[in-house]
This record gives sequence, structure tokens and C-alpha cells, in this order.
Amino acid sequence: MKVPTRSPTHEDVDMRRLASMGLELEEIAVDDAVALPAMIELAEDRGRPVSHYLAAVPLATELRVDAGTAPLAIKVCAGTCQRYGALDLMDHLVEKWGAAKTFAIVPVTCLDRCDQGPACEVHGSHGQLVLAPATTASLDEALAELA
Ligand code: FES
Repeated sequence: MKVPTRSPTHEDVDMRRLASMGLELEEIAVDDAVALPAMIELAEDRGRPVSHYLAAVPLATELRVDAGTAPLAIKVCAGTCQRYGALDLMDHLVEKWGAAKTFAIVPVTCLDRCDQGPACEVHGSHGQLVLAPATTASLDEALAELA
């Protein structure tokens, strides 16, 4: 697998921790989907960042995040892109989501742009916008334009 040429800036979440978070998520899932408000509440209860639970969904479960009826879906790579700041992007999106709810957050294991991580894709009626490497600023810009 290709990785960015720059050095990792972040550590990824330990796989055993992801596995135990996956079990917690299974408890709150309904029809294999986890509603984001329930996940946020769980993360607050456990004192962990929501991003860790978001990453656990594709990495440690067969579940998905309930996308609801939002017109935009933002796929965020939770794989090796974690080492390049993907979790920060997810926490940023969770904050923005709380205010607007105009998009769904879809964590995935890989977006096939591992050498340009952290990778995101914004899907909607415009088609697909690739942000790689994505930043909180580029996500804000995309949302301001598309949401
Ligand atoms: S690990 Fe492949 S795009 Fe993130």
C-alpha cells in the first residue's frame, strides 16, 4: 500500500480498543446502523472522542453510520489515513454536523488515495468531490459550497 511521503503526524487507535468500541457500538445499533446522536452520547459517556467510534465502525464492525436523508455524504478514510490526521477531520465534521445536519459522515476503511491521505470524498447531486489530502479548511469550503 502506498503512503504519503511525509512522516505520519498522528497515531492510529489501537486495534484492541477499536474492537471493544465496536462491541459497544453493536449494543446501540438498530438494523446494523448506528445513529450519530447515539454515538455522540456514547462517546461523551465514555470520555472518548467521537472520531474513535466513527473509525471503529468500518474497522471493527459490520455496521454503518446511519446516513439519514442528508443530501451530502462525506466519506472519510479511517484506515492508515488516521496517521495523517483523519480522526481530527472526523471530530471537526461531528462539530459541524451538530449545527447543520446537512450531511452524513461515512467512515470507510480506504478510499484508494492512501498516498494523499487523509482522504475524503464529498458525494451529492454535484457528483463526487475528492479532497486528498483533506484539511478542516478544505472540508469547510466544500460544505459551504455544496451543503
Ligand atoms: S488508507 Fe487508503 S485512502 Fe486512507
